[in-house]
Amino acid sequence: MGDTAAGGRILVASNRGPLSFTRGRDGQFTARRGGGGVVSGLSAVAEDEDEDMLWVCAALSDDDRAAVRAAGDGLLDWEGASGESAVRMLDLPPDVFDLAYNGVANSTLWFVHHMLFDTPNKPSFGLDFEREWEAFRAYNEAFASALAESVKPDEQARAVIQDYHLCLAPLMLARQAEGVRIAHFSHTPWAPPDYYRILPDAVGREVLAGILGADHAGFLTRRWADAFMDCCEEFLDCAVDRTHRQVCFEGRRTSVGVHPLGVDADLLRERADQPDVRDRIAALQQQTAGRQVVVRVDRTELSKNIVRGLEAYRDLLRRYPEWHGRVTKLAFAYPSRGDLAEYQEYTAAVERLAAEITDEFAVPGWDPLILEVNDDYARSLAALRLADVLLVNPIRDGMNLVAKEGPILSNRGCALVLSTEAGAAAELSDAALMVNPYDVTQTAQALHDALGLSQAERSRRSAVLAAAAGTWPPTRWFADQLRALDEP
Ligand code: G6P
Repeated sequence: MGDTAAGGRILVASNRGPLSFTRGRDGQFTARRGGGGVVSGLSAVAEDEDEDMLWVCAALSDDDRAAVRAAGDGLLDWEGASGESAVRMLDLPPDVFDLAYNGVANSTLWFVHHMLFDTPNKPSFGLDFEREWEAFRAYNEAFASALAESVKPDEQARAVIQDYHLCLAPLMLARQAEGVRIAHFSHTPWAPPDYYRILPDAVGREVLAGILGADHAGFLTRRWADAFMDCCEEFLDCAVDRTHRQVCFEGRRTSVGVHPLGVDADLLRERADQPDVRDRIAALQQQTAGRQVVVRVDRTELSKNIVRGLEAYRDLLRRYPEWHGRVTKLAFAYPSRGDLAEYQEYTAAVERLAAEITDEFAVPGWDPLILEVNDDYARSLAALRLADVLLVNPIRDGMNLVAKEGPILSNRGCALVLSTEAGAAAELSDAALMVNPYDVTQTAQALHDALGLSQAERSRRSAVLAAAAGTWPPTRWFADQLRALDEP
């Protein structure tokens, strides 16, 4: 890779790490590589011979915890990574982890940044939240200490800390290890001040100050970076320099950068050409029988707007009967955060509406909708290869990599119906059909328009989208942050 330059060890910290463990009946542990763009991108950096990386993450399951204990020193073998690279999994007390991860990260901060609270009822910050917040501090402190401990004296280490789970860790680390250069990266949107205000005042300030403990704060789009600076200006006694994108707070200067994570097109195409994907393409082709295919692939997160997407598809079939028998929607909605009641209810709502659509329109020989709720990565890639139209309509999303993967993979070129509220809109809006995610009528119309595009126009648009989607592969995205960190 070479362009991560400047030398020194690279420390990465994220809640979910690059490995997860399962213990077999024989008591042996099998490590699986974690999924997702960030993990594979950062793993590619770790695989580079010239880089020496330590990745600190949390043990997420009982099997992970047992694997950490079995390893003794907490350092785990990381197959595929270069010689000195290692993973350190933190075996936090399960109750601390639960309060920090489910209570604060996923039920509070994630909801704030995605602006998703049902405010007449939630949130309500009382005694329970105080306990959760204490646990969140302890969880962040554990990461900061693990990072600080792993820095050798006089080493010029750089620490890249990921996401809202670890928003307090930059300042905690800066206090413990002075020489380390620290970057923080937000993978979510950032809330504007009028919504951020929902957080208790001191908590809101602590989060901002935590990130400003870093030398560099990275965001996926300019919109989220600007919202972060707006919040700093509104809630902290700090100086915000918009021209140079810097925030000075308590004697520390933090640069604010935009690093729009994209897709490694070659790697993805190579993966999507493997036999398991080809098998699934054949199966899906049988199910869709030469019809046009509308595809969506999401984790079932409340922000993904799967229900309104189904409503829009139902509207399309009601308004435009000419599509009956000529289109099939593949909706892959994979499990996510099943510990939270809101997520269980949302998944049930998706399944209910899908059943209603099938009841209303299906006839022998035509399945208008195929909903799959069991995760199958190879099948997702197969669907993206077959897509004529890709629907990505989140209420709010930091980036949305599916919007980028689809055009890269689609065999014939796909039309993208994209929400204005996805971070990806900043790069893809010229060639996508843009929709307001709440406007079901507009989304149905966009699906109709997308299905009606000529093959030539669809391919032209898809090529433009694919080029934009491949501009910031994860390794470049990461190197860009390190470069920002190395600037004086
Ligand atoms: C969402 C957020 C990401 C976050 C991820 C964590 O997709 O947008 O910013 O990193 O969730 O997911 P997890 O399954 O680890 O809770």
